[in-house]
Amino acid sequence: WPKDVGILALEVYFPAQYVDQTDLEKFNNVEAGKYTVGLGQTRMGFCSVQEDINSLCLTVVQRLMERTKLPWDAVGRLEVGTETIIDKSKAVKTVLMELFQDSGNTDIEGIDTTNACYGGTASLFNAANWMESSYWDGRYALVVCGDIAVYPNGNARPTGGAGAVAMLIGPKAPLVLEQGLRGTHMENVYDFYKPNLASEYPLVDGKLSIQCYMRALDRCYAAYRKKIQNQWKQAGNNQSFTLDDVQYMIFHTPFCKMVQKSLARLMFNDFLSSSGDTQNNLYKGLEAFRGLKLEETYTNKEVDKAILKASLDMFNKKTKASLYLSTNNGNMYTSSLYGCLASLLSQHSAQELAGSRIGAFSYGSGLAASFFSFRVAKDASPGSPLEKLVSSVSDLPKRLDSRRRMSPEEFTDIMNQREQFYHKVNFSPPGDTNNLFPGTWYLERVDEMHRRKYARRP
Ligand code: CAA
Repeated sequence: WPKDVGILALEVYFPAQYVDQTDLEKFNNVEAGKYTVGLGQTRMGFCSVQEDINSLCLTVVQRLMERTKLPWDAVGRLEVGTETIIDKSKAVKTVLMELFQDSGNTDIEGIDTTNACYGGTASLFNAANWMESSYWDGRYALVVCGDIAVYPNGNARPTGGAGAVAMLIGPKAPLVLEQGLRGTHMENVYDFYKPNLASEYPLVDGKLSIQCYMRALDRCYAAYRKKIQNQWKQAGNNQSFTLDDVQYMIFHTPFCKMVQKSLARLMFNDFLSSSGDTQNNLYKGLEAFRGLKLEETYTNKEVDKAILKASLDMFNKKTKASLYLSTNNGNMYTSSLYGCLASLLSQHSAQELAGSRIGAFSYGSGLAASFFSFRVAKDASPGSPLEKLVSSVSDLPKRLDSRRRMSPEEFTDIMNQREQFYHKVNFSPPGDTNNLFPGTWYLERVDEMHRRKYARRP
């Protein structure tokens, strides 16, 4: 099999407009700090009525292919992870085939994968599995994940966002998927789901969704730890795995505060599995909770407070940098975790990252979740694959700052228009395409047969 399969290149797309969360707090008449401190969100990106899931994915793939200068026939597999479904049958992947038309390359496996925010991770696993199988034909895989995260007026609305990430998967990658190390938890719950096909909005039980996320995190972490410890044991090492063995930790990010609590929770997992007589200073203030079972603590405010305090330093070192895009753009569902990866790379130098392990937790409501990890290449020299990958995302803060700030009134108006135009036929979305970033694909027309036509802004 090819060696060191993982991420070779990565591209992020987000809309050219945002609403400020402080403005939203005032507009929604909630206490100052509820969204900015309580949820940890600064700005929220949102799409114009000219954008849909197909246009987002067209843009991010086009950008990745142009930047890497790969010929279109170098791709043998393309997977899309999304939960933004505008057609119950026709995959986003089939729309993306339009980009490959001139190259004549139609021999491209892969279709869409859907389960809430987990589809991107399932696609990544599929691509890696293909590459490590007898079906691999020597070409690259593309993994595309994207979503438009929108909620009706109410307490979930500030946890929206939108964006897409495309990843080039191949051997000898600077970010290698660690083999044999996936801890997964799946179960049947109704925490967030989309039964209403006539609306873009999900049904969500916010408090339940948070508990489900935390339970999945606990279970996936336990499964991952077991697998890595087994690998170590076979190599003659009886050590226990803890967060010390992970230099960076990224999470699916519905809102940033949730991620800070999640890192704290992983530390709490380490604490509960450590021996009672530990002198570890890290766990200072936690001894009172020694006898508790994880399941008893999901709504325990005392535990929450103590573990957040104990893990603050660790959060600042291992996770905070990965939240740059999330706090400035919001939830991107399937692409959220990979946006965190891009943020992490954009906030560190290749030298800092070289040789490290990045732990990753992916969560999709309903629910499907996995804990897995990347090993970063050791070579960070100029021109190395790692250095190229890191420098390719270094403009992320600048790009985020170049977006237009919209008022909550304008945001609400566009949300109302999206509701009105959803599934409309014989229709061209209104709006000035000059408001999109240059090179962005947009929806030009939906004909009477629901066929969608896209164009690209020069
Ligand atoms: N200053 C500082 N903090 C404040 C504050 C203020 N003035 N006012 C409130 N807060 C704090 C609260 O104390 C609370 O923090 P703690 O949980 O640490 O106590 C936080 O702000 C949020 O306040 P509420 O709990 O009152 O918020 P809410 O109930 O109105 O809504 C929500 C929060 C449930 C997350 C809601 O936004 C929601 O339903 N969002 C969508 C669902 C979601 O994101 N779920 C996450 C897990 S599921 C998942 O991950 C999949 C996915 O992508 C959707």
